[in-house]
Amino acid sequence: MKNQIKKSSIYTENELSRCLLCNNPPCSKVCGKIDTGKIIRSYYFKNKAGAALRLKDNSDCATCETQNCIKACIRGRVDLPIDIPFLMDYIRDEVRLHTQDTIDEPNLKIDFCGIECENPFVLGSSVISSNYEMCASALEAGWGGIATKTVGYVTCKEVSPRFEISEKENGHFNGFKNFEQISEHSIEKDLKWIKRLKKDYPTKLIIVSIMGSDEKEWGELAQLVTENGGADIIECNFSCPQMTFKNMGSDTGENSELVELYTRACKTNTHLPILAKLTPNLSSPDAFVEAAMRGGAIGISGINTIKSLTTVDFHNTLDKGVCGKTAISGYSGKAVKPIALRFMRDTAMKFHPAHHSISGIGGIETWRDALDFIMIGASNLQVCTAVMEYGQRIIEDLTEGLKLFMKEQKIHSLQELVGCALKDIIPASDLNRSSIVYPVFDLSSCVKCGRCYLSCRDGGHQAIELIKGRTPNLIVDKCVGCQLCRLVCPVNAISEGKRIDR
Ligand SMILES: Cc1cc2nc3c(=O)[nH]c(=O)nc-3n(C[C@H](O)[C@H](O)[C@H](O)COP(=O)(O)O)c2cc1C
Repeated sequence: MKNQIKKSSIYTENELSRCLLCNNPPCSKVCGKIDTGKIIRSYYFKNKAGAALRLKDNSDCATCETQNCIKACIRGRVDLPIDIPFLMDYIRDEVRLHTQDTIDEPNLKIDFCGIECENPFVLGSSVISSNYEMCASALEAGWGGIATKTVGYVTCKEVSPRFEISEKENGHFNGFKNFEQISEHSIEKDLKWIKRLKKDYPTKLIIVSIMGSDEKEWGELAQLVTENGGADIIECNFSCPQMTFKNMGSDTGENSELVELYTRACKTNTHLPILAKLTPNLSSPDAFVEAAMRGGAIGISGINTIKSLTTVDFHNTLDKGVCGKTAISGYSGKAVKPIALRFMRDTAMKFHPAHHSISGIGGIETWRDALDFIMIGASNLQVCTAVMEYGQRIIEDLTEGLKLFMKEQKIHSLQELVGCALKDIIPASDLNRSSIVYPVFDLSSCVKCGRCYLSCRDGGHQAIELIKGRTPNLIVDKCVGCQLCRLVCPVNAISEGKRIDR
């Protein structure tokens, strides 16, 4: 029984999410045979094939006598070390290598705004792209480019602390709230390192993000960035929700006339392609996409952060928040991805990806997240919060995971995937309503926790009864096929049956 529970996905998921994903993991160092820390990290970031590739066939962790990895595990200093040998064997057993050497290694080259990029992954405009050293090390690590921290004429004074989070289990960020405004440096200082970066990394994509306060300033900034050199693309930041300066930030992005006016002011003063970075704090991007296109933008990037409030504290004292206060400001990270996908899908529907480009942003942590954005029309991807949480090293699993997927699917060019899912996103009124999918219970995996029963009783249609004490049984006549039971099952013992006519 113990082994059965151990082998269940819930144990594996728990062990994975308990892993601290350490820098230079000591478990890898002491093993000497396999890079355990990297394998766990690849699996955590859904690069399962990449994790399996690193597990040599001859390394059977179950029979390892020393188990030095467990002794070295830093999690052991917190509570219990990670069951690394179990995870290694689980990954080896679970991930049958599906990659076959039938095609050449796919590369991730992609055209974005008419520029050939090494891969679509770019540091998102923020603190992570605010100086030469950070950007250079990211480009060395394999990022295809960077979008600089927004530059402008104002010098911002920031608050401390600057961030709040809403948590996933085990302390990982679910959503991330920041109060940051545009660059804290002078424009001269920023332009200097940007120019040097391009000189040192001529093949990498450099997007320079700018923000002005009126038509004249936007035009001047575009001209300055162009004459300075270093930029491949200018991104107009119309969307920061926490600017404290008048006429700047997402208020601009919520006014389509200003979006058009400022985009045109930039277009008139540069030959570089222009991206408009729009705010998601709108019911529809349509009018704003049209305005940006009329103004001369070649593409849209989004989303920027969503106006949010994360912490409301009853016992608010001066030592909490910012002197006992908080404010509405931008939300990003994993939690915003579905909102970002909706916003960018609607954007993609406004134009043909062959003529215009989309830089997809919002909650990208894994290659699977990246693929979702590509399939709804993005040919460039900016990542911010995940780099802040896990470091630039996530690029390894972003690129490798995507490559191994393409290899498995025999996809030669990333371009083939751009927009391929758009046809399958249809109005809710057109969805098939004349068929049904019943859940199927695998009683050999079921641990009889009763979660399916509870959710169906209190959040569904009372279609599950418990027989022989705790065993779930479907009452087909009452089941509407909503699949809530499958979604709440903690051990994946419920699957979808065959779709049948009602
Ligand atoms: C700390 C922080 C600073 C940011 N600064 C900027 C900025 O200067 N300019 C900008 O266009 N977006 C800025 N953003 C927004 C990000 O570029 C990105 O649009 C947003 O965070 C969503 O992506 P993510 O979920 O990968 O973080 C910032 C985000 C964070 C978290």
